[in-house]
Amino acid sequence: MDAAIAAVRCVEDNRDDHGVGTGGIPNVLGQVELDASVMDGRTLAAGAVCAVKGYRHPIEIARKVMESTPHVMLAGAGAELFAEWHGFEPAELLTPEAEAIWRERTLGGAPTGSNLYADSYQMYMAAVRDWVTLLHDRMLGTTNVIVRDQQGDIASAVSTSGWGFKWPGRVGDSPIIGAGNYADNRYGAAACTGRGEMAMRAATAYSIVRSMRDGFGLEDALRRAMLDLQDLVDPFAERVNVMNAVAMDREGNVAAISTAADTAFVFQRLDMDEPEERPRACVPLKQARSQQVS
Ligand code: GLY
Repeated sequence: MDAAIAAVRCVEDNRDDHGVGTGGIPNVLGQVELDASVMDGRTLAAGAVCAVKGYRHPIEIARKVMESTPHVMLAGAGAELFAEWHGFEPAELLTPEAEAIWRERTLGGAPTGSNLYADSYQMYMAAVRDWVTLLHDRMLGTTNVIVRDQQGDIASAVSTSGWGFKWPGRVGDSPIIGAGNYADNRYGAAACTGRGEMAMRAATAYSIVRSMRDGFGLEDALRRAMLDLQDLVDPFAERVNVMNAVAMDREGNVAAISTAADTAFVFQRLDMDEPEERPRACVPLKQARSQQVS
């Protein structure tokens, strides 16, 4: 768990990464709102926070929820109060670059003025379809980390700032145990990035681990979860780069998958000096199905 959290902290602190932590693209009101979760494969203990503002390391707050409360998830103001009580330092998460991107998108570049989307729910709903197609490269980023130690103990950690320009309070799959994150020493672990709403509807992370429990190999388990997504009617899904998952089986073998072609993931074992990039398998969404409802 220490290693998983250390890795996620680096991404949360990377100001050039606009999908996680500091530098994340804000919600439609210009506030950076973060989601994160951790899961301990030894015990199936889990902790999560969602829609948290003003703290650099939501992954640490999620761990604290797991370790010191009888709860799994704290949301919004309650999570922030919890963080304050536990001495987490408040921080400014909106970087000038992320703010400029937000201004350009929501205020048309004007330094002040009406926020077209936050002022009008109808306009937000009309615009959000286009955002889905425009955002994916820089603003749908999430970090997934799965770690296994030499005893075979697995920990998983996921952190995100979610959809750029999202409606305040929109929560994705990253803090939802079973949707964006799941770890169980007995079978393996999985975590997701991409369109969280799909992973929430299909319980994607759990379904991958469940397939391994049911005897499927790692690659087949990933593939089955992506095939499940093809049954989701989703008029908001951007057609190409929608969903991604990484997974590890209980032996420590790793694999990843995406609905997009030519994507990669990174892994490293103790006997390797450098991390290695490997291609993800690809199972595209069926276009006809995602376009069925408009
Ligand atoms: N997968 C991250 C999100 O949808 O917020």
